[in-house]
Amino acid sequence: MCFALKREGNGPMLTTLIPANTMNEFALDVRRGLQKKPQKELPSKYFYDATGSALFEVISQLPEYGLTRAEERLLSRHAKEIVDRLEGPVVVAELGSGTGRKTRFVLEALCGRQPTYYHPIEISPSALAACERELRDIHCISIVGFESEYLNGLLEVAARREEAEQLLVLFLGSTIGNFDGDASIAFLRRLRSILREGDALLLGADLLKPVETLVRAYNDALGVTGAFNRNLLLRINRELGADFDLSQFEHLAIYNAETHSVEMHLRSLKEQEVTIGMAGVTVSLRFGETIWTETSHKYSHAELVRMAKEAGFRAEAQWVDREWPFVDNLWIAQ
Ligand SMILES: C[S@@+](CC[C@H](N)C(=O)[O-])C[C@H]1O[C@@H](n2cnc3c(N)ncnc32)[C@H](O)[C@@H]1O
Repeated sequence: MCFALKREGNGPMLTTLIPANTMNEFALDVRRGLQKKPQKELPSKYFYDATGSALFEVISQLPEYGLTRAEERLLSRHAKEIVDRLEGPVVVAELGSGTGRKTRFVLEALCGRQPTYYHPIEISPSALAACERELRDIHCISIVGFESEYLNGLLEVAARREEAEQLLVLFLGSTIGNFDGDASIAFLRRLRSILREGDALLLGADLLKPVETLVRAYNDALGVTGAFNRNLLLRINRELGADFDLSQFEHLAIYNAETHSVEMHLRSLKEQEVTIGMAGVTVSLRFGETIWTETSHKYSHAELVRMAKEAGFRAEAQWVDREWPFVDNLWIAQ
């Protein structure tokens, strides 16, 4: 199903639905991931049902998770400088907007120029709706959201913009770090191929910092990140007819020094079998065996410079938060 509407004034946000993860795909991804050897995996994009999106919002406010506050400080201080580096009329697309709270600073900074279209692109319908509620009062912005995978949504936005409009793509919150290894460069290259020369990408990236600080950020005292992680099993139970016993899995956050990433896993607390009805599979887990659910890569400045080049961008400028080392990078498509 796909529909598109035009928004005028302060009416409701209009959403185009680009079918992303049909139940079939979800079942296939779960089956493929749980059959992987030697390490079972589940794709992190499935964290974000309504409960997962709500839990992520809480995580972003936890004392241990300094990342969101760092980027909020950067954007609140530098949004005008950022948008001043872009010439002409701008259309804004945001990949995985979440509630879009931090995005307000960028959008308000653009209000000094011309009325602007803002396109949040979200896999989570509840995050997309929250984003609309969060930002609808900004008078110079028309919000047209896409319930879609990142690049399918971006293709739509790119196809709709006017010839003279420059695209500013926001990819905030170090979500790029959820792509492991070479997948991040491959993703950025695909993203670049959708853009025109001169379009811009504002990329938020969490920087390397002491291991204890990093691990605490993904293993908070309140246990919210653990709930966020285990909610994935609850979602699979509900949507795919599985029989995961959540009390038999514990949340694990570990730092992988080789890949410079924090990994989240779910560790089996006993030898057990789990059946995922709609995926047509029964899997066995050993005592202590883990299912790898998320990677959060941490960056060095040198690595980001190399990534920009490899993906076909010029690193135009960067803004760094010293309190919680985090960088917002402005890259221009070459
Ligand atoms: C880590 S959260 C970051 C949210 C927000 N950008 C921030 O900085 O706080 C990632 C967001 O991306 C969305 N997301 C995850 N995978 C996605 C995908 N493949 N396509 C579109 N959205 C996705 C999630 O629903 C979630 O809201």
